[in-house]
Amino acid sequence: MKALKLGAIALGILAIPAYAQVNVTIDAAKPGPVINKNVYGQFAEHLGTGIYEGLWVGPQSKIPNTKGWRNDVVGALKELKVPLVRWPGGCFADEYHWRDGIGPRNKRPVKVNTHWGGVAEDNAVGTHEFFDLAEMLGAQTYVNGNLGSGTPQEMAEWLEYMTSDTKSTLAEQRRKNGRAQPFKVDYFGIGNEAWGCGGNMKPEYYAHLYNHYATFLKTPPNARPKMIASGGNDNDTRWTEVLSKEAARGTDGISFHYYTLPTGVWEKKGAATGFDEAEWNSTMAQTLRMESHIKNNVAILDKNDPEKKLGFYVDEWGTWYDVEPGTNPGFLFQRNTIRDAVVAALNFNIFHAHADRVRMTNIAQMVNVLQAMIITDKEKMLLTPTYHAYKMYIPFQDATSLPVAVTNDKPYVSGSSVVPGVSASAARGKDGKLYVALVNTNPRQATDVVLNVPGQAINAVSGQVLTADAMDAHNTFENKQAVKPTPYSARASGGRMSVNLPAKSVMVVAVEG
Ligand code: AHR
Repeated sequence: MKALKLGAIALGILAIPAYAQVNVTIDAAKPGPVINKNVYGQFAEHLGTGIYEGLWVGPQSKIPNTKGWRNDVVGALKELKVPLVRWPGGCFADEYHWRDGIGPRNKRPVKVNTHWGGVAEDNAVGTHEFFDLAEMLGAQTYVNGNLGSGTPQEMAEWLEYMTSDTKSTLAEQRRKNGRAQPFKVDYFGIGNEAWGCGGNMKPEYYAHLYNHYATFLKTPPNARPKMIASGGNDNDTRWTEVLSKEAARGTDGISFHYYTLPTGVWEKKGAATGFDEAEWNSTMAQTLRMESHIKNNVAILDKNDPEKKLGFYVDEWGTWYDVEPGTNPGFLFQRNTIRDAVVAALNFNIFHAHADRVRMTNIAQMVNVLQAMIITDKEKMLLTPTYHAYKMYIPFQDATSLPVAVTNDKPYVSGSSVVPGVSASAARGKDGKLYVALVNTNPRQATDVVLNVPGQAINAVSGQVLTADAMDAHNTFENKQAVKPTPYSARASGGRMSVNLPAKSVMVVAVEG
């Protein structure tokens, strides 16, 4: 009990009378920065069935496909308006040699994916195939180069192959391989997790290598991708400190990785399903640490880069559970429940609040791996609760963020930790409408939320809500609709606009004045 009280005091939470309603006040008169649509970016790595089977089946497959990419999955991703895809890794990127993935597919070398499961990698998906996918999705591209086991020459030649519009041998080779026009590389990452699988480096050493490699990455002036320095993770802010001083010239952003583990312990992360309420609560607490991670790194960027040239790209995030029993541990397959949708929405709200620096994020990963949007089993496909959360938040892509204050919050208490009960975010959409996103972290209790927009009367709200009865409710191939959003609308009464936020829910509504 003492620990609870201390936790509550530390969070600045005062005793709230039981009858008080949570208030969400939106300052529509003070527009903040635009929420870059790339905050809703995705990550597809050569890992498990994330690409092969999940997305790519090959042109000869009986599974309906376009240029080898399965139509059902691509169709669902198009509806999600995926703004950007990062490829080919991850840890895989620092083992990937791009020449293995061009030319006739039956002549490409078969390698071993030593990082993920030790399986054969036949390089059927390479540069041309990746851009086919991105172009089908209408998504921007984030290509991650190999700094760990490659050379500056190999990296420079890949960029030339993709972007050159000259008659150089590499550009001609690209044309011979079927692509007359250069590919559009929007972002280019120089290495990945240099502190770990990318080479076990110190930030100072990586900063030297980054500058060395970046020197040789030449493109036509109008085709220069935004360059990304691979940064730190979790509590480690040294990478942002060093890179923002030593590797900032010509750099667009510094990346950062943070995964949500229910227990916070890598050796026993916690299960994707069948968990108890204490683990629901600890998952909320762990994921909300994203806010302090961002604040700590942004404080360093504000000191070293006051002109805000550098973005802070959370290019890997999401839940990471113990691998599903009976599956290849190297494939990182896990189930995806209503808890994942709540985690996703909490993170979206955090990203919106830091939209001036957080200009891109990539959830790990798009299909079948970690916190996926889509799960497949051969020809079958299902949409996860995380997919639905992404879809509900589409109005926030390129919307203008608005300041939001949550008062009278009823903290959610379970086990020894306390987390805020309601998380909120608001923005003016590109369609001119005012959108509000609300999340209830409490898995047992619904809560009433009063919405206020000073200076503006609210008559009604309408949108969607995503919730479920069980904490681990999820979609299966037998019941694909178990967890799906339902319409929600409410009208103001007596000058008050109150919405009922169900337990463990995500709601996105448009406000009607
Ligand atoms: O997303 C899975 C892996 O997690 C990525 O390959 C790596 O960058 C991170 O450690």
